[in-house]
Amino acid sequence: MTTTVITGANKGLGFETARRLIELGHTVYAGSRDARRGEEAAKALGARPLLIDVTDDRSVAAAAEAVRKEAGAVDVLVNNAGVAGPALPTEELTAADLQQVYDTNVFGAVRTVRTFLPLLQAANSPAIVNVSSGLGSLAVNADPAAHASIVPAWIPLLAYNSSKAALNMLTVLYAQQYPGIRVNAVDPGFTATDLNGHQGTQSAEEGAAVIVATATAGPHGPTGTFLGAHAPIPW
Ligand SMILES: NC(=O)c1ccc[n+]([C@@H]2O[C@H](COP(=O)([O-])OP(=O)(O)OC[C@H]3O[C@@H](n4cnc5c(N)ncnc54)[C@H](OP(=O)(O)O)[C@@H]3O)[C@@H](O)[C@H]2O)c1
Repeated sequence: MTTTVITGANKGLGFETARRLIELGHTVYAGSRDARRGEEAAKALGARPLLIDVTDDRSVAAAAEAVRKEAGAVDVLVNNAGVAGPALPTEELTAADLQQVYDTNVFGAVRTVRTFLPLLQAANSPAIVNVSSGLGSLAVNADPAAHASIVPAWIPLLAYNSSKAALNMLTVLYAQQYPGIRVNAVDPGFTATDLNGHQGTQSAEEGAAVIVATATAGPHGPTGTFLGAHAPIPW
């Protein structure tokens, strides 16, 4: 039995990832920061509801304790919860705006990894999937020619892009420091979800494919990589 925890699974890519992993036989803890939305999603999915707000230490600790009591170990942690941040021009964005985005997209992953670490280390072949974005690639952001070829919907979002770059760095360092855990970042691609007002050009099913593939890569799967739908993304 594979036990998988997904943060932000009440909708969008997290929900679709949960749906696919349940189809593949995983026991999925579908994370939600809102109890009612979480219960509804878990019921629709056949998942176990997990109340978890990744910006709140106590919420993350309570979630890990609930999973520890029921399952004892976590095989796969999908750090999927994410926010886009305010759609403001760069000159109007404050440090507080960035802090709010980082609190979910960066510090949320740190809180969750740190708190779930003992449960991951209790599994035979644990994995962490960080749901990043091509918008977090320094290589892509620094090279206008790469925008069109690698991230066609590239947009210079100061808070979001930099938060995903930080998540990528966390991925590299966690992969090095926890050799017993496969840690990878993935880019789902531009997907129609609430995050972008459903402007994305692909479906949640298409976007979730790389998350599912990385979550199910098994003990011989890669670690310390940044994977897109069809190819690795340059850091
Ligand atoms: N859509 C794209 O084109 C795209 C592309 C690349 C990467 N991504 C990444 O994919 C991930 C999922 O995004 P999505 O497109 O599926 O967006 P979405 O539909 O808006 O889903 C985001 C999920 O994260 C949850 N969340 C937000 N803040 C949270 C917090 N503090 N604690 C726990 N959960 C929280 C949301 O919960 P609520 O319902 O309570 O708000 C929701 O369940 C994000 O990390 C995003 O950056 C998306």
